[in-house]
Amino acid sequence: MIRVMFVCLGNMCRSPMAEAILRHRINERDLAMETACCGTANYHIGDPPDPRTIEVLKKNNITINHKGQQLKSKDFEDYDYLIVMDDSNLKNALQVAPKEYQSKLYKMRDFDSLARGSNVNDPWYGDYSDFEICFKTLERSIDLFLGKIDSDLK
Ligand code: 4NP
Repeated sequence: MIRVMFVCLGNMCRSPMAEAILRHRINERDLAMETACCGTANYHIGDPPDPRTIEVLKKNNITINHKGQQLKSKDFEDYDYLIVMDDSNLKNALQVAPKEYQSKLYKMRDFDSLARGSNVNDPWYGDYSDFEICFKTLERSIDLFLGKIDSDLK
């Protein structure tokens, strides 16, 4: 069983969207994976995702039911891949990560074929079109991530 935790800042937009997309793939393909998501900040603990996150997922026939949570040190024991969205998330997550588990941290677009290693931009202050761009970036990166770990899933 592979355990994946997506991490962003507020746990309202990018990481809930990423988790919902991966969970959709897991269900489609019956993959041996568990998923979760969280934010490095505590601003939105217990809150549902941004309505625009829910809307863009719904347009792509993906449902979501999530309540905000914050990244904690123990997550690094419990998950195999902790996948952040941008350099700022990486910096924040490294402050929480026990030293021996820092190698479990990845950036989402380390797996992307376009602009590899770049940030998944935060759509929070943007408009709905930024959520659509975010969805496409996450979908592509997640499919490439799954391709990369395919052999681990067997
Ligand atoms: P996210 O976006 O990190 O993609 O969930 C944000 C959501 C909320 C805030 C910042 C970014 N905020 O400042 O409340």
